[in-house]
Amino acid sequence: MSINKLRIGVIGAGSISDLHFASYTKSEDAVIVAVCDLNRERAAAKAEKYDIANIYTDYNELLANPEIDAVSICTWNNTHAEISIAALHAGKHVLVEKPLCKTVEEAQRIQDAVRETGKILQVGFVRRYDTNAQLVKHFIDNGQLGEIYYAKASCLRRLGNPGGWFSDVERSGGGPLIDIGVHVIDVCWYLMGKPKPVAVSGHTYNKLGNRKNVKNLSFYKAADYDAERNTVEDLANVLIRFENGASLMVDVSFTLHAKKDEIAVKLYGDKGGVELEPEIVFVTEILDTITNVTPQINNKSIDINGAFQNEINHFVSCCQTGETPISPVEDGLEIMKILCGIYESAAKGQEIRL
Ligand SMILES: NC(=O)c1ccc[n+]([C@@H]2O[C@H](COP(=O)([O-])OP(=O)(O)OC[C@H]3O[C@@H](n4cnc5c(N)ncnc54)[C@H](O)[C@@H]3O)[C@@H](O)[C@H]2O)c1
Repeated sequence: MSINKLRIGVIGAGSISDLHFASYTKSEDAVIVAVCDLNRERAAAKAEKYDIANIYTDYNELLANPEIDAVSICTWNNTHAEISIAALHAGKHVLVEKPLCKTVEEAQRIQDAVRETGKILQVGFVRRYDTNAQLVKHFIDNGQLGEIYYAKASCLRRLGNPGGWFSDVERSGGGPLIDIGVHVIDVCWYLMGKPKPVAVSGHTYNKLGNRKNVKNLSFYKAADYDAERNTVEDLANVLIRFENGASLMVDVSFTLHAKKDEIAVKLYGDKGGVELEPEIVFVTEILDTITNVTPQINNKSIDINGAFQNEINHFVSCCQTGETPISPVEDGLEIMKILCGIYESAAKGQEIRL
């Protein structure tokens, strides 16, 4: 093993951790030395699969291991703040899964810890790291779409409440808005150039429950799937206003009487538009003719494995060079302000100024 390899501990060995384990394993600059999960068997199974020497059930013990330089946090949302802060103070760099945490106050404390310790913290906004999102950003940064004044995103599952902790508001912080809305809100905001959000007006609905009665249709499930408890919304929508006059409209669901699942990410500028999802296409005007331009690239839609590999490679590189990640803690905090503002708006039935 090269002495320069970044030594990684992965905390949380459930469903999404596989994409972290697989990506670190493929990185030439990192080596996974420890895994931790409350469930020892689950941690041991990953240790066996990925050839990892140290197994823990208490993250504090993992953090006390001086051989670990950096951690991936892949646990329930309600633990992200406490584990991130403990890891930073233990001298570890942190890659924390989305959402950064559950509340704005927690996000502020994480930001304070990053500033106090000088360690790297990267938020797992994986959609930013997809090659297609980076291509769109390159086009926007070079003025191809002009000024982006409107964006619109949907992530509608007709059946897809992952159950377990995801549907327990105490552990998740919310339903589809904080779980999948976070991805599409973040990628739009990032591509719009991170304008300052000033107000949100949202709705949440708890009309359909988790529809555990439905048969013959499979979906993403938490490692400890349990359909009994469901205290999260099944649909959320929002209009977000930005200081520069731009706006972003979003709707997301865990379940809805929709004909099919839908993913859409669309941005509109005064020189052109782009659909990043469901299939990348630019829209422009050439010699008085509206023209759709399809870039000739490997994938028409997000390549999830590639996006995770890019995210992990970027994290490893930032840890080694000290460079600030493209998804820093400040952006995690700003997104938490938006998400929590939307829940507050829905609860109060009015627009919330941020
Ligand atoms: N980037 C993405 O596209 C994406 C996709 C899915 C999930 N996620 C995020 O990843 C995180 C985990 O989601 P998942 O789908 O893997 O859930 P999961 O339920 O499958 O796994 C979570 C694991 O964390 C463990 N855990 C919880 N608290 C712990 C603690 N204090 N110490 C050690 N282990 C602990 C649980 O035992 C479980 O094994 C969540 O924050 C989720 O939002 C991100």
